[in-house]
Amino acid sequence: MGARRNIILVGFMGAGKTAVSHLLAERLGWERIDTDDLIVECAGKSIPEIFAQDGEPHFRDLETEVIRGLGEREHTVISTGGGCVMRDGNMRALAEAGMVVHLAARPDVIMDRCEGDTNRPLLQVEDPMARIQELLDLRAPHYARAHHTVDTSDLTLEEVAEMIISLWQGETEG
Ligand code: S3P
Repeated sequence: MGARRNIILVGFMGAGKTAVSHLLAERLGWERIDTDDLIVECAGKSIPEIFAQDGEPHFRDLETEVIRGLGEREHTVISTGGGCVMRDGNMRALAEAGMVVHLAARPDVIMDRCEGDTNRPLLQVEDPMARIQELLDLRAPHYARAHHTVDTSDLTLEEVAEMIISLWQGETEG
């Protein structure tokens, strides 16, 4: 495990990474970045446009490039895209950049939170619940490599942020 310089949130779409990252950064007085935002900035187009025009493999290459660039950061809360854990190198780079927390949620909760959201190309299918389940199964062993897991299904954003701050204090003050 790498030096604890940053807090990195991984986890499935709808697990709360973005919302929790805002709150954490505010509480800690840290900077906050989101790898999806950096990808959009770098590509000059939205995520649905990248997927539609350039394909998912190109999106994944941009994601890897952005993750490789995180190494120099300190005291930053970093939220990531749900699928970035599928590349081994990404997980290694994230673990080196800081404390990696997996935000988990039950499939029904994910479904509720993502309903009607057109900004997530992978869920624009006839049966989003089946897709969620299929992707969760594929990704579970990769999420399990995070340093910690917090199930957000029945917690408020504040509760999740508090739990992560305790984990951080436990590691840095221990
Ligand atoms: C993806 C999750 C999205 C975004 C892209 C692919 C995924 O990010 O990176 O649509 O593969 O799960 P969020 O997890 O922030 O929705």
